[in-house]
Amino acid sequence: MKAIVHTKYGSPDVLRLKEVERPTPKENEVLIKVQAVSVNRSDWEGLTGSPLYARFGGLLRPRHQILGSDIAGRVEMVGRNVLRFQTGDEVFGDVSMRLGGFADYACALEKTLALKPAGLTFEECAAIPQGGVVALQGIRDKGQVQPGQKVLINGAGGGAGMFAVQLAKLYGAEVTGVDNTGKLDFLQSLGADHIIDYTQEDFTKNGQQYDLILDVIANRSVFAYRRALRPNGSYFAVGGSAARLFQILLLGPWIRRTAGKKIRILAVQPNLNDLVHIMELWEAGKIVLFIDKRYSLIEVPEALQYLGDGRVKGKVVIIVEHNNRA
Ligand SMILES: NC(=O)c1ccc[n+]([C@@H]2O[C@H](COP(=O)([O-])OP(=O)(O)OC[C@H]3O[C@@H](n4cnc5c(N)ncnc54)[C@H](OP(=O)(O)O)[C@@H]3O)[C@@H](O)[C@H]2O)c1
Repeated sequence: MKAIVHTKYGSPDVLRLKEVERPTPKENEVLIKVQAVSVNRSDWEGLTGSPLYARFGGLLRPRHQILGSDIAGRVEMVGRNVLRFQTGDEVFGDVSMRLGGFADYACALEKTLALKPAGLTFEECAAIPQGGVVALQGIRDKGQVQPGQKVLINGAGGGAGMFAVQLAKLYGAEVTGVDNTGKLDFLQSLGADHIIDYTQEDFTKNGQQYDLILDVIANRSVFAYRRALRPNGSYFAVGGSAARLFQILLLGPWIRRTAGKKIRILAVQPNLNDLVHIMELWEAGKIVLFIDKRYSLIEVPEALQYLGDGRVKGKVVIIVEHNNRA
């Protein structure tokens, strides 16, 4: 099969289209003929090896040579303990435990997959899993957003932020979205009540305070976040530099004790019910999905570069064509 492979960390230039052996599913796995796979910042992090936590299990060389975690496709083969799926089923899910989605075929644990709703396309199903579940667990479960609360999403124009803005609005919050100049119109179209251009304004220094801050790009000190929180407010870092996340782990509990404000890392738990819930919200028209661009498998390096350059609004999706191939 064809796959986009990287054997060292670096820019998209290190990626190669290669002929590799098709994976064989283990007893609790499903082999999927990939039809669509979306690009996440976690793929960029896995490619560049930065932040440092992206090198988990492979300090000098990538542990996973084929990236790609949000996949949708057809079941080609099932392991002998798989009960929920059979050959030909259309499925999707976040396979970040195994990765391998930038390929013709990928193996996934049965428990990470859901049946694709008949009315939805593969590319739509590939665009939702990781960002949707991050946003749901951040806004609904950890954030416990209530009507009238002030919520700020930092990095609101990306894969997780797009859903977080809409979910916070759905739960009745007054929402501020922060992202770069080119994405401000997009944030408004998602329903953000206020927008902040991070290239012009630091949201931790403008005197505003929030009940909840969901931050996909934690790059400030915990003291700045403390300042931007209302009394009893909560801040959750979804992603960010290793140094910032370490500082949060170290000083968050102390800030909780001394200032009564919660500053924590959001550890997202893969959850099929959450994934299905997000799909249902979307099918019901309560949230929208924005796919900025579509690429082919051979164009994965361009797609990753587009994300790395900071141009993606919402998501980009790779469409895997199998025509003229075995
Ligand atoms: N905690 C967990 O369990 C968990 C689970 C899954 C994923 N993650 C992490 O979650 C993060 C989620 O990313 P995503 O997929 O939503 O990424 P994304 O699609 O790249 O979105 C990030 C957004 O943040 C913007 N941004 C960059 N610098 C900024 C700044 N200084 N201030 C405000 N916004 C800024 C980016 O804009 P530009 O275009 O300007 O760069 C982009 O629009 C990743 O780091 C991933 O590793 C964490």
